[in-house]
Amino acid sequence: DNGGQRSAKKCKPESAPNGMVNILLKLEELFSLAIEQAFPNVKGFQVVVVPTTPNFGDYQFNGAMSLSKLLRTMGKSLNPREVASVIRENVPSNSVTDTLELAGPGYINIKLKASFVQEQLSLLLTRGVRPPCGVEKKRVIVDFSSPNIAKEMHVGHLRSTIIGDSICKLLEFLGHDVVRMNHVGDWGTQFGMLLAHLEDRFPNFAEETPPIGDLQSFYKESKIRFDSDADFKKRAYACVVKLQSHDPVYIKGWQAICDVSRREFQKIYDRLDIKIKERGESFYQDLMKKTVALLEETGVLKEDDGRKVMFAPGIAVPLTIVKSDGGYTYDTSDMAAIRQRIHDEKADWVIYVVDLGQAGHFETIFACAEVAGWLDRKKTRVEHVGFGVVLGEDKKKFKSRSSETVRLVDLLDEGLRRAKEKLIEKERDKVLTPEELESAQNAVAYGCVKYSDLAHNRNGDYVFSFDKMLEDKGNTAVYLLYAYTRIRSIARTANITDEQIKKAVADGIPLGHEKEMKLAKLLLRFPETIVRLTVDLFLHPLCEYLYEVSTVFTEFYDVCYCVEKDRTTGQIVHINMDRMALCEATANVMAQCFSLLGLKTVQKM
Ligand code: ARG
Repeated sequence: DNGGQRSAKKCKPESAPNGMVNILLKLEELFSLAIEQAFPNVKGFQVVVVPTTPNFGDYQFNGAMSLSKLLRTMGKSLNPREVASVIRENVPSNSVTDTLELAGPGYINIKLKASFVQEQLSLLLTRGVRPPCGVEKKRVIVDFSSPNIAKEMHVGHLRSTIIGDSICKLLEFLGHDVVRMNHVGDWGTQFGMLLAHLEDRFPNFAEETPPIGDLQSFYKESKIRFDSDADFKKRAYACVVKLQSHDPVYIKGWQAICDVSRREFQKIYDRLDIKIKERGESFYQDLMKKTVALLEETGVLKEDDGRKVMFAPGIAVPLTIVKSDGGYTYDTSDMAAIRQRIHDEKADWVIYVVDLGQAGHFETIFACAEVAGWLDRKKTRVEHVGFGVVLGEDKKKFKSRSSETVRLVDLLDEGLRRAKEKLIEKERDKVLTPEELESAQNAVAYGCVKYSDLAHNRNGDYVFSFDKMLEDKGNTAVYLLYAYTRIRSIARTANITDEQIKKAVADGIPLGHEKEMKLAKLLLRFPETIVRLTVDLFLHPLCEYLYEVSTVFTEFYDVCYCVEKDRTTGQIVHINMDRMALCEATANVMAQCFSLLGLKTVQKM
């Protein structure tokens, strides 16, 4: 797979003014042209170029085998190596590729021109790390976080919040029109018991905001009564009816309860610096009626023991659209929501970031939306971005000592405490001012929680361990944030300004040392790396890239002097500006990666 770049427009500069060149895409264009030229009868052959190990070159074209097969079906018999050879001769002369070498049964190893790398690197420095060109702008709705009112916002919601926010950041950076949507569970039968309990505990709730301090215990109390007291249960049902008929008193009570939850959620969002717009299930109340009517009209609903259900082809479990008591469900609201998102919001792409436990639910929702004629997958991309469960260090479901689910605020507090311990252990308190120490503490605490989530393949279950997260070796936030500040400090200690660097490299950077060249090429792979992420919305390859940048930087820095000092006096005798520029470019690319991952960087740490 070539990373969904198939649908991408050509790398025309107007699609992203001053955008970075997506080199991989550029090479695919060149090879497409070569094939068109060499084999005019072949139509729509998908050219795939992949990055390769330095022994072979920089990139590789390996489509000659399949093209040879295709040609045979068209009555032309050429072996893959012959095909590759013809293609190579037809690659138009260009400023990007240097040597094109035939290898093995029919590979073409591609080496980039040094002049191209030099020029692109100096553009990277003068223009900054800019979104790549060749991305078609889409309207995207990302449904993420989405906790439930009055219930615990748990670690599953934390994962959704972290992954969803990073997906939004990526798509925003690529230039898409992104709506960050919080589909909170703020409507449904659980409000019956909450409202009945509210009537008893705070009888004048309609006049005065009820001082509910702890909504969790309030929920538990009402649940106990609901399960044990038949009269209470009856009243709870009556409350649901009143709420759904928009009785203003009960609407007030509902709002008061939602407000308490909302304030709690907001604390988490503020701490993690996450922006999201709330549009909960209640938004779809009226639309649900319409949705049911439309489905009824289309004749896709079936009676089942008093319920109205909808089946999707090949899926055994149907959606429950109307319950036997006439009420609506989670399924109904998601059917209403998907229609509203495609039809009214005009979304080209809808992404649901929800745990894998709900994979079946979304598969059915998408299939039913197709049956209903609301979703055409050729026009609208819909997908469930799932993730595994969070485990404790004992590999069992994540719980606190008291075996209750862990409160997120407590978890983040622990992160802050542990981050500070770590910094003090490394004696950072001796070199940083109290303010610098605090910024570092925040960056490390929230950074490590986010990074360890994003660095793992999201489909796996993942073990939540502050010990692991806070390790300062390997692919961890702590290591990378340190590496970043160290790179930034190189220019700072040499007293070099941004402007000086830009000026020095305006005519290009020589990149004479092989380690300089290796690092430069890796930095220029940033555009293709992030575009590739949009194919399947896995974010861990970005973390791997970031880690690779930091290790390749170390390789470079170990052998290439940037600042030469006199051994005895310690005075700076020579500053290599081209290498300072490479440091700068590395830090800039890393900073952009951090930003896409939702990590804050600090100048000193
Ligand atoms: N509130 C749900 C839960 O906590 C998640 C909602 C996800 N979004 C959606 N459109 N169903 O499980």
